[in-house]
Amino acid sequence: MLKLRHVSYAFGSHWVLKNVSFEVEPGEFVFLFGPSGAGKTTLLRVLHGSLSLQRGGAHVAGFDLSRLTKRMVPKLRRAVSVVFQEFKVLPHKTVRENVALPMLVRGIPRAQMERRTNAICRVLRLENRMNLPCRGLSGGEQQRVAIARAVVTNPYLLLSDEPTGNLDDELSTRLLEIFKQFNQFGTTIFLATHNRRLLEQVPQAKVLHLEDGYCE
Ligand SMILES: Nc1ncnc2c1ncn2[C@@H]1O[C@H](COP(=O)(O)OP(=O)(O)OP(=O)(O)O)[C@@H](O)[C@H]1O
Ligand SMILES: [Mg+2]
Repeated sequence: MLKLRHVSYAFGSHWVLKNVSFEVEPGEFVFLFGPSGAGKTTLLRVLHGSLSLQRGGAHVAGFDLSRLTKRMVPKLRRAVSVVFQEFKVLPHKTVRENVALPMLVRGIPRAQMERRTNAICRVLRLENRMNLPCRGLSGGEQQRVAIARAVVTNPYLLLSDEPTGNLDDELSTRLLEIFKQFNQFGTTIFLATHNRRLLEQVPQAKVLHLEDGYCE
């Protein structure tokens, strides 16, 4: 599902990722664990094709990132769902519209789209926010909208950047339970966090430690 070999990445002369190598098998639950500034978001952005590979080799969900052309990026983005640290929900669209968007793009029939949107919003306790524009929601609610939008298509691979950053303890626990369920149904989970408590909640998960750009 993921295979990195000696990946390094620099912003100008500042090397943020240093010779990172690891593999993730389909169906694994993996934490990318490391302190603030370690390079977690940068690594996720490389995996998602929003930063181009500078050094090393990487395969993501069957895509060879060293051969990724601009035209292939939308295909990669359909195979790989991502929840960004800063959510990126569309502020003027409603919760319902935000969550349905990836299904609209894929041409999923309307009835099925509505069924799935309602179901995932219920799971994430957004059912009475469905018709409100996202700009009026709290940070934690917007984060849950971003998560609903990312999982609503049953992705093969879910990349998630600090998904519980704005959630209280109860919602964080609940969210990890949801991720575990998706994982049991076959979604590979790759979750970046600096919060050690999350690791304790998924004891069977693999933990990759990222520190100052080095991964082990
Ligand atoms: N666009 C950028 N331009 C220059 N430097 C950057 C850029 N993005 C990140 N960096 C630098 O790269 C390093 C790693 O940042 P990154 O955001 O990947 O860390 P992180 O592990 O996600 O941290 P956090 O837990 O705080 O989200 C930091 O030193 C940061 O200043
Ligand atoms: Mg980050």
